[in-house]
Amino acid sequence: MLSKVEVVQGDITKLAVDAIVNAANEFMLGGGGVDGAIHRAAGPKLLEACRVFPEVRKEVRCPTGDCRVTPGFQLPAKFVIHTVGPIWRGGYSGEESLLESCYRRSLQLSIWLGCRSIAFPAISCGAYSFPIDKAAALSVRTIQSVLNSGAAFEQVILIAFERETYDAWRHALIEAERTR
Ligand code: APR
Repeated sequence: MLSKVEVVQGDITKLAVDAIVNAANEFMLGGGGVDGAIHRAAGPKLLEACRVFPEVRKEVRCPTGDCRVTPGFQLPAKFVIHTVGPIWRGGYSGEESLLESCYRRSLQLSIWLGCRSIAFPAISCGAYSFPIDKAAALSVRTIQSVLNSGAAFEQVILIAFERETYDAWRHALIEAERTR
């Protein structure tokens, strides 16, 4: 089933897929990195749409590991699924299960929306310092388990901004195919 998963290098805001995933923060009102790029490309209506979500607790619209969906507005993608990855604190604070939850819940939400194509950035691997090799193996494993459960995706894109991320995801995919 991993045949539907491809790794590319580039800018997620250019992808004409049903859903792109945003590596947001819990406040969900934009930021730097891919969050900033997506808000810039989507236009100001994206921020308005994010503001609509109620704070589940002070300054938290989307808890870490969870996700929320908005339209894509000026983006070529139909939807933006905002997810909040964990900040890497050494690996003993449940970071791996929280990151797995980001991928799993984003996929489940996109299935519910009827999406057939989805693109992920390397969630938590920038400002949140999650080690890319760990994140690459974990994301491929999680996507593989959702695809193996019969999810009808035509395309799952892992889009790397940097070459190092691209290489880590390629290696993780090759390893997953080899150990299938
Ligand atoms: N397209 C694809 N990937 C991108 C893009 C882009 N246009 N811009 C950045 N990236 C990559 C980064 O290079 C990194 O590999 O996305 C990955 C995630 O990095 P961050 O965007 O820093 O996200 P994260 O580590 O999850 O930190 C989230 O940073 O930007 C703020 O508001 C955000 O507070 C939140 C925190």
